[in-house]
Amino acid sequence: MKTTSISSRLSVMFALCAVLILSVYGLFLRSSLDDSLTKQMHNELIFRANLIEPWIGSRASPEAWQRLDKKLAELTEAEGGRVKYWIFDADSTVLLGDNSLSDLGQIPSNNGFTRIPSDNELSSDRYLYTTFTSFDGENTALRFAVSIDSTAYVGTLNEFTRTLIIISILGILLVALLGFAISRMGMKPVKRLSSQAEKLEAGNYDQRLDTTNLPNELLALAASFNGVLDRQKVAWQQLESFNADVAHELRTPLTNLIGQTQLSLSHQHDIEELEELLGSNLEELERMTTIVNDMLFLSHAQAGEAATQTSEVSLQQEALKTVDYMEPLLEESALHVEIKGDAVACIDHRLFHRALANLLGNCVQYATVKSTVVVAIEKQSHHVSISVSNQGTPIEHTHLNRLFERFYRVDSSRGDSRTHHGLGLSIVKAVALMHQGSVFATSQNGINTFGFTLAIQPEHSILTKK
Ligand SMILES: Nc1ncnc2c1ncn2[C@@H]1O[C@H](COP(=O)(O)OP(=O)(O)OP(=O)(O)O)[C@@H](O)[C@H]1O
Ligand SMILES: [Mg+2]
Repeated sequence: MKTTSISSRLSVMFALCAVLILSVYGLFLRSSLDDSLTKQMHNELIFRANLIEPWIGSRASPEAWQRLDKKLAELTEAEGGRVKYWIFDADSTVLLGDNSLSDLGQIPSNNGFTRIPSDNELSSDRYLYTTFTSFDGENTALRFAVSIDSTAYVGTLNEFTRTLIIISILGILLVALLGFAISRMGMKPVKRLSSQAEKLEAGNYDQRLDTTNLPNELLALAASFNGVLDRQKVAWQQLESFNADVAHELRTPLTNLIGQTQLSLSHQHDIEELEELLGSNLEELERMTTIVNDMLFLSHAQAGEAATQTSEVSLQQEALKTVDYMEPLLEESALHVEIKGDAVACIDHRLFHRALANLLGNCVQYATVKSTVVVAIEKQSHHVSISVSNQGTPIEHTHLNRLFERFYRVDSSRGDSRTHHGLGLSIVKAVALMHQGSVFATSQNGINTFGFTLAIQPEHSILTKK
């Protein structure tokens, strides 16, 4: 794709503006000069006509005609042929003056100024002034005309137009060049910013763009760029701690596996011992598989994967199925489950079971024995909320906000950290995200509540229904 610099674009725009402004000014100046030159020519014609008119009025005899003819010829000669005079009769027949006037029919029949057309624009451009006067002797209507060579005037106008065009072209070029230079200067902060961005080193997550002395227009851009870097830093830190957590979680079972295998290789074993060893190794491997599968599920959800196999279900019915499935475990802790409320939503019921089973599983682990667990289903405007409340040890506020993070546990020494890795709630969060929902947790008056929301109509299913 062809790219152009902002500076050259701006200079082209400046040049176009200059073309527009200078053309308007140029046309205005030219037409006002044309007007004033025409006015000047008309004044000259009127002056000469006024000079001759008394002579025409006093013609009474053929001698007087001859005298007038002579006088007009003298006047024409005195001005180097620049000014010419005619007298016509009513039929436009030349009675006195230059017979060579090509198209006498062009002379208007009433008083006024006109332009005599000519093949040679410049040299023969003349203006006529016509007026009526009467011949005293026979009272015949005669017409008197005077013309002036407009070569000088037209020359002045043309010269002015030429100069105007040259000055305008130079002006436009100057504006374009100045515009280019000015915009280059204006773009300097952008260049400074991009060279700063180029210098940002990979792996150094504390580097930010320097926003001091930046113009307002760029300040917002630099600030949002720095915001992206902030978020990148958080994501990077999460990834780093996530990698460390994964390594940590997998290290223990791997160490166990290696230790047991080495031990068994160091001396002879009978079949039963070997079977026991393989059984325990298999358990360890299954736990590792669970962690890896959970991790894969979480990474898909984090990559923005949405629930696709959705169907409209009653959440109360689905919750009942999950409780049935969890019944043996719940009975172990003598927990009684109450399901309150209902809502119909378009969800992936397998993901819903997984999330609810994780929450109920936590109740089995952390709820006060022989207490009641309440599963509440509430319909909100665009979402449904599913919460699981149980009696138990209060959770500090600082922990509550972090419990949905991967591998985060309030007290990893408590409970069975070999089978429980702190992934249950992060999977609940992933399920919520896959349904455009969110998660929440509260701990009040000895009741701990964990829950999630789901969009009643997830976006993808709206799309597929269209
Ligand atoms: N109902 C609850 N009552 C009290 N604490 C809870 C409850 N549910 C979760 N927690 C706390 O939140 C932590 C994280 O829970 P989460 O379900 O993510 O992990 P886990 O139960 O420890 O392990 P996993 O679910 O992977 O087997 C738990 O370790 C526990 O400290
Ligand atoms: Mg759990």
